[in-house]
Parts: sequence; structure tokens; C-alpha cells
Amino acid sequence: MRVSRGIRALGAVALLAVAPAFAEKLSSLNLHLPQDDEEFVGAGADTVNSACRACHSIEMVLTQPKLSASVWTAEVNKMRKIFKAPIDDADVAPIVDYLVRLQAGS
Ligand code: HEC
Repeated sequence: MRVSRGIRALGAVALLAVAPAFAEKLSSLNLHLPQDDEEFVGAGADTVNSACRACHSIEMVLTQPKLSASVWTAEVNKMRKIFKAPIDDADVAPIVDYLVRLQAGS
């Protein structure tokens, strides 16, 4: 009993000693977080920014191959259904329209 308490205390001390070192290491990494200031621009971009940048950067979208409207619709619905993205029904079509125009370069 006494021994196991001692071991647990030792574990806690070790964790405290390691935690700051960890934090330092993490803050020096170059992570691509959604808080970066890259955003979609142009007509209709506001809806896409608020719908898509909460969880990942726009790179996730920009690195996709050229997709059709129906594939983009399935993709947006996947974000909603599987990842629980809070996107209104009414916003799906304008978002898909924006993404197709974006990939067409217009
Ligand atoms: C609720 C969080 C969330 C929101 C909001 C969100 N996504 Fe995602 N998205 C994810 C997750 C989780 C992944 C999978 C990441 C991974 O595989 O590493 C992902 C991956 C993707 C991918 C890569 C292909 C794939 O299916 O894995 C694309 C493209 C994408 N998202 C587009 C969008 C678009 C467009 C929007 C806005 C309409 C959006 N996402 C909004 C969570 C979200």
C-alpha cells in the first residue's frame, strides 16, 4: 500500500517535470491550424469560410483534384453527416457552386 502510493506520487512528479518540456516542444512546431488567416475569397466566400474553416484549413479543399458538383455535394454532406459540420441545408448548393467555380478558376 505504502509502496504503491509512493510510486503513484513519483509518477505525478515525473509528469509535472515532463509537461513543460512538452509544451515547449509543441509551441515550436510549425503546425497548420485552422486559425491561420488563409481564407476563401470572392463572391460567395463568406458562407464557405464559415462552413469549412472551423475544423481544417482551406488546404484540405484546395488540394483536391477537380471534382464535379455531385461529388462536391457528397463531400459537403460527408462533412455534415460524418463529421457533424453545422451546415444548413440551404447552404449546401451555394457552397458546392462556389467550390466548382473555384476549381474552374472563375
Ligand atoms: C466539423 C468539422 C468539419 C467541418 C466544418 C468541415 N470538415 Fe472537411 N473534414 C473534416 C475531417 C475530420 C476531415 C478528415 C481529415 C483527415 O482525414 O485527416 C475532413 C476532410 C475534408 C476533405 C478531404 C477529403 C476527405 O473526405 O477526407 C475535404 C475535401 C473537406 N474536408 C472539405 C470540406 C468542406 C468543403 C467543408 C465545408 C463545406 C468542410 N470540409 C467542413 C471535418 C470537417
